[in-house]
Amino acid sequence: MKKYAEITGWGKCLPPAVMSNDDLATFLDTSDEWIRTRTGIEERRVSAVGTSKLATVAGRNALAAAGLDASELDLILVGTCTPDELIPNVASAVQRDLGSKYAAAFDLNAACSSFLYGMHYATQAIRTGVHKKVLIIGAERLTRILDWTQRESAVLFGDGAGAMVLEASDTESGLLASHVTCDADARDVLALKFGMSFDRFGFDGIMPFNFVGQEIFKRAVKGMNTAVEKVFAETGLTTADIDSLIPHQANKRLIDYLAKMCKVPEEKTVINIQKYGNTSSATLPIAFCEAVEQGIVKPGDTIVSAVFGGGLTCGAGIIKWGQRVTPIRPNDEVLESTGESALDLILPLHEQTKLAWEKRGNE
Ligand code: ACO
Repeated sequence: MKKYAEITGWGKCLPPAVMSNDDLATFLDTSDEWIRTRTGIEERRVSAVGTSKLATVAGRNALAAAGLDASELDLILVGTCTPDELIPNVASAVQRDLGSKYAAAFDLNAACSSFLYGMHYATQAIRTGVHKKVLIIGAERLTRILDWTQRESAVLFGDGAGAMVLEASDTESGLLASHVTCDADARDVLALKFGMSFDRFGFDGIMPFNFVGQEIFKRAVKGMNTAVEKVFAETGLTTADIDSLIPHQANKRLIDYLAKMCKVPEEKTVINIQKYGNTSSATLPIAFCEAVEQGIVKPGDTIVSAVFGGGLTCGAGIIKWGQRVTPIRPNDEVLESTGESALDLILPLHEQTKLAWEKRGNE
């Protein structure tokens, strides 16, 4: 039995349409200054295609980096809270479109923590010999579910996907320790009340997004703190052993706090929230992919990661990178532009939701 689940492939997919903070300020009562100083975000991507398409491109790039054929995979696991449909899942569309016909395929929803949750369980499955070659993807099209009249939450999120290939290995590598939790007492502070609980006959176009930013912030700090302490204790490593920090990208201030706690200097902390906003389950694999591409992650590096999301789920992991930081085949496939700008895609949603709120207010 192989003891480790080495990361052998990495890939990403960012839709081409970019929405800047100034674009948002054309239809929301907000400003570039407010968004930058409170969150660190400068722009985000808006997808014209569904989550499964984003997931497939990211997945194909990760397979290319690993030098694997899609038919060699035995599991495809997609972390998402924005599936194209309730049934069937996103993972089955990825399986079909990649041609991985021997792979089991399922989705996992732990909100923004989904990717680390996925790594946690996929690593266990590889260690026990149940699976050998696993593709994990984090993919989201959050811009379709946001309430574009609600400035508190609308400015924070974006679309994208990232992926990793994990393979059974005898070399010490991959997720060395991980800890995942859920602070369910606070499950309502970040909630989209939709899905099976909504009254489809009374649906008026509004998907209420409960979002209590400061409470999420407070609990996220506490949860990540505990999870990081646990993974250090489990491995016996200390902050002195860490080469870089690759955290969930929800707020730059939160990332700065984590970096201080883990004693990781700024140049070793991976931050890309300014370009993409919060892409939920996709932030972690996109950040890993860019950290490798930019030479921040070096062969054999030890990395600490921490995440939190709706639930409130939370987690941390210590990851050892393998000896290879260059892709075996080019992993740079991108999505073609449809010609639509980010505002072309979002303004109709904003208009519909605004009218629905006005109608509700008048009744
Ligand atoms: N533009 C301008 N003003 C705004 C905006 C906006 N987009 N949003 C809120 N404001 C106003 C508020 O109305 C408030 O005005 P008031 O003082 O007149 O009442 C003021 O700005 C301050 O609002 P706060 O909510 O106190 O702002 P805060 O500094 O807490 O920042 C934020 C809000 C960025 C959401 C922060 O709480 C946060 O980062 N929370 C945790 C991270 C998070 O929730 N990320 C989202 C995803 S969760 C996940 O990843 C699963």
